[in-house]
Amino acid sequence: MKVLIVGSGGREHAIAWKVAQSPKVTKLYCAPGNAGICEFAECVPIGAMEFERLAAFARENQIDFTIIGMDDPLVGGIVDVFEAAGLKVFGPRKNAAILEGSKAFSKDLMKKYNIPTASYETFDCAQDAYRYLETAKMPVVLKADGLALGKGVLICSHLEEAKAGVKELMEDKKFGTAGNRIVIEEFMTGREVSVLSFVDGKTIKIMTSAQDHKRAGDGDTGLNTGGMGTFSPSPFYTEEVDAFCRKYIYQATVDAMAAEGREFKGIIFFGLMLTEQGPRVLEYNARFGDPETQVVLPRMKNDIMEVFEACVDQTLDQVNLQFEDHAAVCVVLASKGYPVHYEKGLPISGLERLKGKDGYYVFHAGTKFAEDGTTFLTNGGRVLGVTALGEDLKAARKNAYKAAEWISFENKYMRHDIGKAIDEA
Ligand code: AMP
Ligand code: GLY
Repeated sequence: MKVLIVGSGGREHAIAWKVAQSPKVTKLYCAPGNAGICEFAECVPIGAMEFERLAAFARENQIDFTIIGMDDPLVGGIVDVFEAAGLKVFGPRKNAAILEGSKAFSKDLMKKYNIPTASYETFDCAQDAYRYLETAKMPVVLKADGLALGKGVLICSHLEEAKAGVKELMEDKKFGTAGNRIVIEEFMTGREVSVLSFVDGKTIKIMTSAQDHKRAGDGDTGLNTGGMGTFSPSPFYTEEVDAFCRKYIYQATVDAMAAEGREFKGIIFFGLMLTEQGPRVLEYNARFGDPETQVVLPRMKNDIMEVFEACVDQTLDQVNLQFEDHAAVCVVLASKGYPVHYEKGLPISGLERLKGKDGYYVFHAGTKFAEDGTTFLTNGGRVLGVTALGEDLKAARKNAYKAAEWISFENKYMRHDIGKAIDEA
């Protein structure tokens, strides 16, 4: 089977690593990929938003199955383009990827189908939003409706800050058209958990839980990032929480999408907040989480190609999804200054120390080859994700931090408390 993966980050590296283990796969491509992905796949220089070129490549190279990793192409309708070309592809169509592509859509869906989430109002006009804020209970959460690289969410603790936030999103258009419409939401408190799932339109199978650390600095300080590290499983995701989510959230979401005529096939990522009143949905994503994938896939026992195919063929009910009992921690190595200003093109050393070591993985988020074709260079704010397994979270964390020290590049920056809260649980 010839397989193509679309994307270029640590998530796609982890997917490529897992797909490459499938005995079904004879040839793997990744577009555009990165320097780390080249180990498992032939990287093809076509951008993830070049749908027609990607479909033409898949046709010309007789690709049997394509996996879309990233949110932008999914929300933009890449799956529809592939399907129209008669190609087999994993991911939601445009009319279902809206679950991630529009916060207003997802909030309205949850409200209509009684799926627990924070209360909210939607605004298309800044003046109405300002008026609403005058009487709103602080803090409030402002969310740009559209995709904003995970940065379109502002938590505002007082009125002036909230007004400035509305101006930024709706009038200054900090995130472009993503802010034409905003959602203003009740602020919730509690532990956050990420739960990924496979969905075939009808059946949903839940993966093991994980938790991300989104802020740049230790102790959850500093700016929001794409994610500075993850651990799996989350000790806060208890059997009780799982039972609640199965009853009120997971299948309910899949059924709601089907009832709306927006059958969802692919990955649903549930961002949950475990509040005192029970679990609530913070957000949906229509793809694997990054860097959640770097701790979830190393713990998965199944042949992932069988699961992907079952989603497309709607036979997921016959799949027994299984995860190892152990734990995993992923520490992101970033370039100092991320997520604002940082240098690129700095040589990376020490990667070979993780090679072939059982229970240690390095997933490339932003790397490229130097002109010599062998030296790895940094090529992004988030550079690498170092994942290690352990018999429990404490052991996994120790291993991940040990391995993180094996790798060096100028201006290397990481958080030192990934998974730390779990020791205190
Ligand atoms: P989202 O992109 O919707 O997941 O929001 C990004 C982050 O903002 C979440 O991971 C939370 O940490 C925070 N957040 C979003 N919505 C809320 C809310 N209603 N109450 C508290 N924090 C929130
Ligand atoms: N780690 C959060 C996300 O992938 O959106």
